[in-house]
Amino acid sequence: MGEAVSAANVRNPRFLTVLIVGAATLGLAATGQAQTPAAKTPGFTAAQAARGAALYSANCALCHGDGLDDGQFAPPLKGPVHAAYWGSRTAADVLSYINAMMPPSSPGSLGAQGSADVLAYMFKAGGAAPGDKELPIDPAALALAAVY
Ligand code: HEC
Repeated sequence: MGEAVSAANVRNPRFLTVLIVGAATLGLAATGQAQTPAAKTPGFTAAQAARGAALYSANCALCHGDGLDDGQFAPPLKGPVHAAYWGSRTAADVLSYINAMMPPSSPGSLGAQGSADVLAYMFKAGGAAPGDKELPIDPAALALAAVY
């Protein structure tokens, strides 16, 4: 993991916290005490994830990486480090975060629909199976939904 962390990330205290929490959670997993999410990951459709994939490539991949966990300039958006941080939070939290903070050069520029579409793509890339209902664009509708 060490060499994948760029100098830019090490200077970012929030990212360091993610790494520390990640290490702690890996320890927990080793002792078999996995966390139970509040509710299951919200549904999304394959078409929505495909729209999100296009938005992701154009607006997010530069920093977060084409594979979502191979970016040089930003934390992973899938995998154990991401799960360690977002596993105790709701899908509403991550959608609100994207709406408010990403991409850093123009937060909110994807619009509510675009942010939800990108989140659908993140779920799909993280291994979730698409269903027949779109991920809602209103974070309030996701207040009880788990990220993991
Ligand atoms: C210019 C580089 C850059 C771009 C482009 C970018 N991000 Fe980020 N992103 C970051 C950085 C840096 C952080 C860590 C911020 C922090 O910890 O305070 C981050 C954090 C995040 C997080 C929180 C991850 C975590 O575990 O802390 C999410 C979710 C996210 N970005 C989604 C997106 C999405 C979706 C897009 C495209 C719409 C995007 N980002 C575009 C740099 C970028």
